[in-house]
Order: sequence, then structure tokens, then C-alpha cells
Amino acid sequence: MSNYTPKKVLITGGAGFIGCNFVRYLLKTDPDIEVLVLDLLTYAGNEENLEELKDSKRFTFVKGDIRDPEIVDSVMKKVDTVAHFAAESHVDRSILSAQDFISTNIYGTYVLLQSALKHKIKRFINISTDEVYGSIPEGEADETFPLKPSSPYSASKAGQDQMAYSHSVTFNLPVITTRSTNNFGPYQYPEKMIPLFITRALENKPLPVYGDGLQIRDWTYVEDNCEAIFHVLLEGKIGEIYNIGSGNQLTNLVLTKKILNALGKPETLITYVEDRKGHDRRYSVSCKKVKKLGWNPRHSFEESLQQTIAWYQTHQNWWGKIIQKQESYQEFFSTYYKTKV
Ligand code: NAD
Ligand code: TYD
Repeated sequence: MSNYTPKKVLITGGAGFIGCNFVRYLLKTDPDIEVLVLDLLTYAGNEENLEELKDSKRFTFVKGDIRDPEIVDSVMKKVDTVAHFAAESHVDRSILSAQDFISTNIYGTYVLLQSALKHKIKRFINISTDEVYGSIPEGEADETFPLKPSSPYSASKAGQDQMAYSHSVTFNLPVITTRSTNNFGPYQYPEKMIPLFITRALENKPLPVYGDGLQIRDWTYVEDNCEAIFHVLLEGKIGEIYNIGSGNQLTNLVLTKKILNALGKPETLITYVEDRKGHDRRYSVSCKKVKKLGWNPRHSFEESLQQTIAWYQTHQNWWGKIIQKQESYQEFFSTYYKTKV
């Protein structure tokens, strides 16, 4: 028996990468759950990500901004549970301008928390990131590790986490926070490293490796993260934080070579470019706490990477539209990478 039984779940950011995978996962896993997505459809949100669900009676989509208290109240009153994924999520964009990161990630979260209080929400899952701990030169960060965010993105996520925690302490709002490592899988917007490199390699374009390429990330398959988040929703302790990771620690260079190798493309596509400003060298978290709750990652890294590559190979139409037609993609790409590739 679980500690908690969600019935109707508000998923903010459900048209983005992890959000849309979580929507699918919930509808598939629990036939009694209903899902309501609130998403602004920014450059990173895509209604196509939820296309095949739109006729389901258990699924509702509302286009709207988490910073708008009226629209937030109008959806909050219909649910008992919140899984809050909506965010500005790309480090490189936060280096160009952090304004939307501050307003969506911190203020938008505040609007959601206040509305959740008003409507007596029973569980509020705050989706965060291992990046709030900053670069970890050695060892692992557990959930008590000091926050030392080094990018405007991670600083805004740390602000979001503190706001969520303050609502659990001050107002007894039943908040639980998850901090996962880098995710990969289908529907990831092609500005993040893995989908950027797959799609560029498919087009025989150079892959921009920042600095020496020896930075380390722990890669979690998105379905493992979805399972962990659901597990924490059912079994997690209110007020607690749970790190989620898979122990798949790789340097960017090793990962880049795996992608090229899987696609049968030459390593000469690797292009070393100027390093990201403030680039975190290594992320590493301890996941003992979530494992104690009974969750473990189930997917092998090598197989999930192959599946992810295959998904981008068979969904050329999905990413082709973004790369060729989306102004925001093109503008970001030409501004950020102009001197690089
Ligand atoms: P994403 O950028 O793919 O999707 C974000 C979604 O939020 C989009 O659908 C967008 O339209 C929506 N959104 C943005 N601003 C909004 C607003 N003001 N109101 C309503 N909707 C808004 O992000 P993702 O990679 O799916 O990440 C989801 C969450 O997980 C984020 O909170 C992120 O910080 C966290 N996270 C991501 C990773 C990762 O590797 N992708 C790792 C750890 C944590
Ligand atoms: P990213 O997918 O942006 O995730 P995060 O910065 O949140 O970890 O980047 C993953 C790693 O890949 C990170 O160390 C930065 C590096 N990277 C490149 O070397 N080149 C690129 O073009 C991108 C987007 C990322």
C-alpha cells in the first residue's frame, strides 16, 4: 500500500521534454489517474509532444502561464496533486539573459505554491536539478549538501527550491522536491547536448564540444526519472528532498564519441569551441535516500542511448521543423554559437 493515492494531477510544463514523458508515464501506469497539463508553449513547449493523448478522457490541456495567478487558480481548483515541471531550463540561454529564468522559475513557482495552499493541494512535487549543488570536484552531494549554484539557470532553480521549502515549513504545504541529474530520451529539445549532437551528426554538421570536453555528467534515462518522481509522489516523505541519478558518469567527450560511433559518423565532426562561461566541471549526487524508498534505475545507459538515437532518426520531422523553422531556435543558435561553429 502506498502512502498516497493521487487522483487528479496538474502537470505544469507538460508539453516540454520531461513533462510530456511524465504525462505519458502516468496515464499508462495508473488507469485511475486524470491529468491536467498547464503549459505556456514557450519555444521549448510543443503541443505535438502530446498529440496522441488529446482524445483521451483522462487528459486535459490548458495553455497558460504559471506566473498568471488567475489561470493558475482556475486549474488548481480542479486537482488534488501538482507535479511542477514548467521552467526555463537551458543553461546557455540563461547566460545570454536570465530574466525569464527568474520570473518563471522563482516567481512562477511562488504563484503555484500560493494557489496550492489556497486549494488545499495534498501533494506538491517540485521538480529540481542536481545543478543547484554546483560543481562537485570529488565525492557526491547528498540532499544536505550546501547549495552553490554557478549558472543563472541553477541559481533560479535554487531560488525555486528554497521558495518551495519555505512553503512547507511556514504554511505546512505538503511539498516534496526531486533533484535529478541530466536526463536524455525522446522529445528533448535539440539545444541540449545529446539531441543537439545527434541531430547535427545526422546532418553531418560539426559538434561543438565546449572547452576540453572532460566535464562529467551523470546521465539518467527520462523514463527512469519519471518512475522515480512517481515513486516519490506515492512513497516520499512530506518536506523532504530526493536526489535522482543513475551513476552513468561520463565525460562529454566519451559521450560524443559514443553518439558518433552509433551513427557511423567520423570523429572529425568533433569541433572544440570556446568553453561555456562558469562551466560546471562535474556533477555527482548520492541517491541513497530515494533508493531507500525502493526506487532503482531500470534502464541500461547503452541501450537507452541507442533507443534515443533511433528515436531522433525516425522523428526527423519533429526536430527538422524546430531547426529549420523555429525563430527562437535559429536566433539562439546564431547568437550563442556564432563564433563557435
Ligand atoms: P523543457 O525546457 O523541455 O520544458 C519546459 C516546459 O515548461 C515547456 O513545455 C515550456 O513551454 C514550459 N514553460 C516554460 N515557462 C512556462 C511558464 N511561465 N508557464 C507555463 N509553462 C512554461 O524542460 P525539461 O528538460 O523538460 O525540464 C523539466 C523540469 O525538469 C525543469 O524544471 C528542469 O529544471 C528540470 N530538470 C531538467 C533536467 C534535464 O536534463 N532536462 C534535469 C534535471 C531537472
Ligand atoms: P546540457 O545538455 O546543456 O546540460 P547541462 O549544462 O544542464 O548539464 O550540456 C551537457 C554538457 O554538454 C555540459 O557539460 C555542456 C556540454 N555541451 C557542449 O559541450 N556543447 C554543447 O553544444 C552543449 C549544448 C553542451
